[in-house]
Amino acid sequence: MNTIPNHVAIIMDGNGRWGKLRGLSRSEGHYAGSQTMEELIDASAEMGIKILTLYAFSTENWKRPKDEVNYLMNLPIKFFNQKLPEFMKRNIKILISGDIENLPKGTKKAVIKAMEETENNTGLIVNFALNYSSRSEIVQAISRVLQDAKDHKISIEQLDEETFANYLYTKDLPDPDMVIRTGGERRISNFLMWQSSNSELCFVDELFPDFKKEIFIKEIVKVFGDNEVSLNEWVV
Ligand code: IPE
Ligand code: IPE
Ligand code: MG
Repeated sequence: MNTIPNHVAIIMDGNGRWGKLRGLSRSEGHYAGSQTMEELIDASAEMGIKILTLYAFSTENWKRPKDEVNYLMNLPIKFFNQKLPEFMKRNIKILISGDIENLPKGTKKAVIKAMEETENNTGLIVNFALNYSSRSEIVQAISRVLQDAKDHKISIEQLDEETFANYLYTKDLPDPDMVIRTGGERRISNFLMWQSSNSELCFVDELFPDFKKEIFIKEIVKVFGDNEVSLNEWVV
């Protein structure tokens, strides 16, 4: 029998290179990546993973060419427009970790709608790290702790790891059991630095669009599976 990880987080890297390698644009790489993302959401639901966190856009990514940023900001609009009815049917709940306030208006509206509509769903949680930075998440948390201390809502003596974690975007979620980065780079890139203190870190060479269901499952089995045979339970 396999132990299914509760929470898997993925740094979806390598879309741009995937496009370039095929003589396509970086944005076409992002489109291919979004197709893979759909496949991994399906696979996670099938396997019984409880939470899938997907790093979609970092606060550093604003420095990219304007066209690419526009494309990446429009993707969630297109994605949720198309997928929300299915997510409702499949009981999938959407969460966002990141600075939603400073997203372009249309993107903000689309992600808020996705969170609100799926709020009461009880199946797989798909948590998008969007306009996310681990450092600013921690700094914001500290600043809110200080404010609450000033307002006598919390005493400094009361502050411990559990209380602090409640000030993070991920407050309702358990820590990831596993963080996977695709695309061959061995970096964390400002992702879930508090939350992944004890997570398994997996770096895989496949560029994200090529990181299909079978490879995803194999990586999970490598860490959490008892034997290769049980992989067949999952590969449909
Ligand atoms: C996707 O991969 C990450 C996002 C910002 C969406 P990249 O766009 O970083 O692709 P590479 O690493 O340049 O190939
Ligand atoms: C990490 O990939 C961020 C996302 C997957 C959204 P990047 O390509 O932006 O990270 P760096 O620049 O290699 O650190
Ligand atoms: Mg990259």
